[in-house]
Amino acid sequence: MTQRPTLTRFLIEQQRQENILPAELRLLIETVARACKTIGHAISKGALGEVLGSLGQENVQGEVQKKLDVIANELLLDANEWGGHLAAMASEEMETIHLIPNRYPKGEYLLLFDPIDGSSNIDVGLSVGTIFSVLKAPPQAEGREITEEDFLQPGVTQVAAGYAMYGPQTLLVLTLGTGVYEFTLDREVGAWRMTDGPLQMPQGNREFAINMARRCQWTPGIARYVEERIAGSDGPLGEDYNMRWTGSMVADVHRILKRGGVFLYPADARKAGKARLRLMYEANPMAMLIEQAGGAATDAQTRILDLQPTSLHQRVGLVLGDRAEVAAVAEVMEPCA
Ligand code: AHG
Ligand code: MN
Ligand code: MN
Ligand code: MN
Repeated sequence: MTQRPTLTRFLIEQQRQENILPAELRLLIETVARACKTIGHAISKGALGEVLGSLGQENVQGEVQKKLDVIANELLLDANEWGGHLAAMASEEMETIHLIPNRYPKGEYLLLFDPIDGSSNIDVGLSVGTIFSVLKAPPQAEGREITEEDFLQPGVTQVAAGYAMYGPQTLLVLTLGTGVYEFTLDREVGAWRMTDGPLQMPQGNREFAINMARRCQWTPGIARYVEERIAGSDGPLGEDYNMRWTGSMVADVHRILKRGGVFLYPADARKAGKARLRLMYEANPMAMLIEQAGGAATDAQTRILDLQPTSLHQRVGLVLGDRAEVAAVAEVMEPCA
C-alpha cells in the first residue's frame, strides 16, 4: 500500500514542481513543524507534566500568561534561532521582535507566531493550537539590523502560513500559496503524514461562530446579521442556522475549512481600534489559509490581506469563511445609502 506522503516529501515535491520553495523556506517549515510536535507532546502530558495553569504574570497583551504560552514560545525560539533561515521572529508573547543572536547565521525570512492560540482552553482539556506566518525580510533591511517596521507588511506578502491543532489528533495545516494541505502526526514514527489537500472549504454551510456574550460590542448591522440567523426558518432568511464557538480560533477555523461556515470576531463598536484578535499572527495567517481554500476574510468590510499594519500587536475585527456570509456581513456594515 503506498504510504501517505510525509511533510518532507510534500515540501521537496513543492520545491521541485512549483519551484516556489527555496531550501531555506523548506528548512523553516520543517523546523516549525518539529517544534509543534514538541509543543503537542508537552500539552498532552497536561497535569502529569506540570504544564497547566498560569504564571501569574501578564504579557504585552495584558493577558495573564499560561505556563504553556511561555513554554511554547521558548520552544519555537530555541528551534528556529540557530538554523540560519531567519532574520528575526515575533510572537504574541513577546513585546518586541527577537533578533537572531550574532553567533548564528541569518536568513531572509521573518517568522511570526501565536505560540498557543486558545490559551483559556488549556486547563480544561479543549483543543488549542499554534499559528504561524512567514514573511520575507524587505530588501532595504539588507546589511542592517532588522526592525519592527520590517515586519509591518500587508498579509498579501506572506510566503507561507499555517497552524498546528492539538486536539483529538495533532494536525498541521499549511499553505505555501499553492493550496492548503493538512498533515496528521503519525505518532508511531513521529512523521507528519498528508491527510487532506488541496483543501477547498465547503460553501453554503449555515453555521456561524461568534461569542454571543460580546453583543454589547456589536454595531447594529452585526446584531441584525446575527439575529436574522438566530431567527431560523421562521425568520427573514427562511433558513435554519447552527452556532458553534470554541474559544480557540484554530479549532473554529479548522472546522470551517473542513465543513464550511463563518467565524466572526467583530471589532468593538464602542471604541475605535479596540478588538480581540491580532492582525500579524492571527488574522493574516488565517486569512491566507481561508482564501487559499476558496473562502474570504475581512475586518467586516476590508480584505484582511490588504490591510497595511501599523504596529506589531495591533488588533483587528475578523470575519472569515463562507464567501456569501462574509459578503453579507460587509453589506450590513455598509452605511445605509
Ligand atoms: P489567544 O489564546 O492566543 O490569546 O487567542 C484567543 C483568541 C482566539 O483563539 C479565540 O477565538 C478568541 O480569543 C476567544 O475570545 P473570547 O475568549 O473573547 O471568546
Ligand atoms: Mn490566539
Ligand atoms: Mn496565544
Ligand atoms: Mn493570548
